[in-house]
This record gives sequence, C-alpha cells and structure tokens, in this order.
Amino acid sequence: MTEAKKTPLLDELEKGPWPSFVKEIKRAAANSPSAQDLLGQLELSYVDKKAHWKHGGLVGVMGYGGGVIGRYSDVPEQFPNVEHFHTVRINQPSGWFYTTKALRQVCDVWEKYGSGLTNLHGSTGDLVLLGTKTEHIQTIFDEISNFEEHPMDLGGSGSNLRTPSCCAGPARCEFALIDTLDICHDLTNEFQDYLHRPMWPYKSKIKISGCPNDCVASIARSDFSIQGTWRDDIKIDQEAVRAYVAEGFDIEGLVISKCPTKCMSFDGNELTIDNANCTRCMHCINKMCKALRPGDDRGATILVGGKAPILQGAMMGWVIVPFMKLEPGSGYQELKDFLEDCWAWWDEHGKTRERIGELILRLDMRNFLRGIGREPIPQMVVAPRANPFFFWWPEEVEQD
Ligand code: HEM
Ligand code: HEM
Ligand code: SF4
Ligand code: SF4
Repeated sequence: MTEAKKTPLLDELEKGPWPSFVKEIKRAAANSPSAQDLLGQLELSYVDKKAHWKHGGLVGVMGYGGGVIGRYSDVPEQFPNVEHFHTVRINQPSGWFYTTKALRQVCDVWEKYGSGLTNLHGSTGDLVLLGTKTEHIQTIFDEISNFEEHPMDLGGSGSNLRTPSCCAGPARCEFALIDTLDICHDLTNEFQDYLHRPMWPYKSKIKISGCPNDCVASIARSDFSIQGTWRDDIKIDQEAVRAYVAEGFDIEGLVISKCPTKCMSFDGNELTIDNANCTRCMHCINKMCKALRPGDDRGATILVGGKAPILQGAMMGWVIVPFMKLEPGSGYQELKDFLEDCWAWWDEHGKTRERIGELILRLDMRNFLRGIGREPIPQMVVAPRANPFFFWWPEEVEQD
C-alpha cells in the first residue's frame, strides 16, 4: 500500500460543521490503496490549481455503449493506484428502495474490484461506484447482473437516455397523484436500448415527481419532467379551514397572498378558489393539508427542456402537455409515443451536444410543435406578457 500522504490543503475541507468527503475518503483509504492515491492526487490538484484527470479512452462492457465513465490520471507515476479510476453507474430501483441484502451484494463486489467509494445517489439517480481499473469492469458487470436475488443493470452515460428516476411517490407520500414508481420502472424497461447504446446528439433525462412539489427537481434537472397533477377542483373542507383560522393560522399572510395567481379569497368564514385560474402549484395544499386536498381527476403535466448549464445557461422545463392520464399498469402508451416523437425531432435536427431544450430555443417552439405534431395552447406560454404571438407562422397573421 502507498504510504499515507500529508494533505494539508484537503484537511481544510474537514473543518466546519458539514459532512466532508475528505473525511470519508480518508476512512476508505485505511483499506483501499486507490482511495489513498485519490487523496494524494487531489492534494496535488489543489497545489497545482489544475485537475489531474484526463478524459478520453472509452471503457465499457460487452454490448453496451454506456454505463461506465472513463477516468485516467495524468500523473500515474506518482499515483499508480488511480492510474485508472473509472466510475460504474448502476441503475437504481424506482424510488431508491433497496433491501440490505441487495446493497451488501453490491458492496462485496465493489470491495473486491473497486476503490470501496460509492455515491448514493448521483444527480443522474444511479447508484454510483467510484474508481476501478479497466480490467475489472466486465467482471463487475457480470457479477452484479447475475446476482441470484436482485440482479442489477448498468445505468446510462454518454449520449443516451439516462437512468429515469422518480420520487418515492405512493410508497411513502400522501401527496402522490400518480404512481411514480410504476411509471419509472415501466419506462426504464421500455427504453433499455436507449439506455445502453448511445444514439443521440447528447444525453436525455426523464424524472418523475408525484406532485408539483417536485421532490426530484425534475423541472430543473431533466429534459422530460413528468409531474403528477389534477384537473378538477381543489377539495375544500370549510370546517377545517375555520379550525386553522381559529387556532391563529395566518391564512391571509401565509396562503391567500402567496397564491401565485391570486385566485383565492377568504371572507372570514368561507374559502373560495377560482379553480380556472389555479396553476396547481400545491402551495395552499402544503400549508393547509388538513383542509385542502387535490382533486380526484389525476394525471401528469409534462414539461420539456430542463437542463444544467453547458451550451446555454441553466433552463427549466416548459409545459408542453398540461395534462395526460397515466393510470398504473396501463402501459403508458401515450407518454411513450410523446417521448419518441420528441426524441425523433431532436435526433433529426440537434447538433452534437445540444440538449432538446437548447434545440427548441435555436429552432423555435413553432418548429418543435410542428415537428412533434402538436398545436400551440395557452399553457405553453412561459411569460404571457412578453410575447404571446410567437406561436404564429407569418402566413397565418392577417393584417388589416
Ligand atoms: C473538485 C473536483 C470535482 C468537482 C468540482 C466535481 C464536480 C462534480 C459534479 C457537480 C458532479 C455532478 C453531481 C452528481 O452527479 O452528483 C460530479 C459528478 C461526477 N464526478 Fe466529479 N467533481 C470533481 C472531482 C471528481 C473526481 C476526482 C472524479 C473521479 C476521479 C470525478 C468523477 C465524477 C463522476 C464519475 C461523476 C458522475 C457521478 C454520477 O453518475 O452521478 N469527479 N462531479
Ligand atoms: C475534475 C472535475 C470534474 C469532473 C470529473 C466532472 C465530471 C462530471 C460528470 C461525469 C458529470 C455527469 C455528466 C453526465 O451526467 O453526463 C458531471 C455533471 C455535472 N457537472 Fe461536472 N465535473 C467536474 C467539474 C465540474 C465543475 C468545476 C462544475 C461547475 C463549475 C461542474 C458542473 C457540473 C454540473 C452542473 C453537472 C450536472 C449536469 C447535468 O445534470 O445536466 N462539473 N460532471
Ligand atoms: S414530489 Fe410530491 S409525491 Fe413526490 S415525494 Fe414530493 S411531495 Fe411526495
Ligand atoms: S394550488 Fe397554488 S395556484 Fe392553486 S389555489 Fe393553491 S396556491 Fe393558488
């Protein structure tokens, strides 16, 4: 084992009240030479003020194009144990529910062939195993995919579909309006091929939240954000509303004035909601969950185009389908057709490393909607007062 190196700069990151990845890597370094060299190389990066990882050099398992992210040190003579330090992404189960047995199996494999360092869970959603050598990758995959109980598959990486992920939804949460777990599992199985074999201009992500609270932050972190919603009226228990107020709850300050569309009013006795103007943000329901509940006609809103900054700045998803029924076990054909239509248009027109949201900005929402065969509707207007006319084609505009 390489001798423990002094890491004064990294040690700074152990100070303060927060959890520290340095502390964790040091713990792993007691048994793992690669974790030890990882610390050494990172310290050197801090001294040199540059990263010592090189990109490039594709690694993977037979038949797959994604799932493993290659990393090589550019100073292997100093840190031989991180000469290769590849990351393996494992497709997490819907909602991140594991048995302890399933986790132990993975950890046993990872102790044998990897650094022992894990990341549960990466922003993609996957169970992430950080740091192994090229020659172990196939063995790791063969072992995890052949577990007698709970066999596992690789997640996505590269220009392909990334592992779909979802909130715990109906398993744990009273707010769930769709079965996020079933939808996530179904889509993962349906689109296996897109997960394993990079085939598009760039990555494409699907995240599913059971309600507009959006606990997986799908609107900001995925190209396709699927959020549970309802389209009938919010259910109001007026007695319970009065009980909140009687207990001193500031209904005016905390609910009425915070409703984004100002569609609520309270006359001291009755709460009224103009449901036609409610955007179903969930704010009032979160605040007064004993008195207000979502309606019964449930489905999902689908937003397209969210992403972190790379070519363009960070973008939030844009409402394309205000409401789609998604009954558990139905096969979700309408949703799958919609995804396929979007991907086909993006694949046809997108430049390399251009996400679908960026392509929509470059080519225009009109072209996107025509490409996927949908009509513009008012819910798609992001900033109504800015320019509500941009959906029209020049030939459609009549002038007096
Ligand atoms: C100070 C240095 C670093 C910074 C600022 C950084 C930043 C990040 C960020 C923001 C993410 C996305 C967050 C996430 O997926 O949870 C990420 C993910 C990742 N990083 Fe780093 N990183 C650093 C060093 C490293 C090193 C040293 C390695 C490997 C040798 C590495 C490999 C990865 C991999 C493989 C992922 C994807 C994990 C996943 O699938 O979720 N990074 N990094
Ligand atoms: C050595 C340093 C770094 C490494 C090895 C690294 C690696 C990665 C990897 C592997 C991913 C996942 C990409 C994917 O899912 O396709 C990622 C994502 C990301 N990285 Fe880095 N990164 C580093 C530094 C940084 C830095 C310095 C920043 C910000 C200034 C950054 C911002 C991000 C963000 C925001 C994401 C999420 C992108 C998304 O989910 O769309 N990374 N990084
Ligand atoms: S997004 Fe909604 S349903 Fe999902 S965990 Fe959060 S509050 Fe519950
Ligand atoms: S859900 Fe949001 S928009 Fe609708 S009434 Fe409640 S606070 Fe207002």
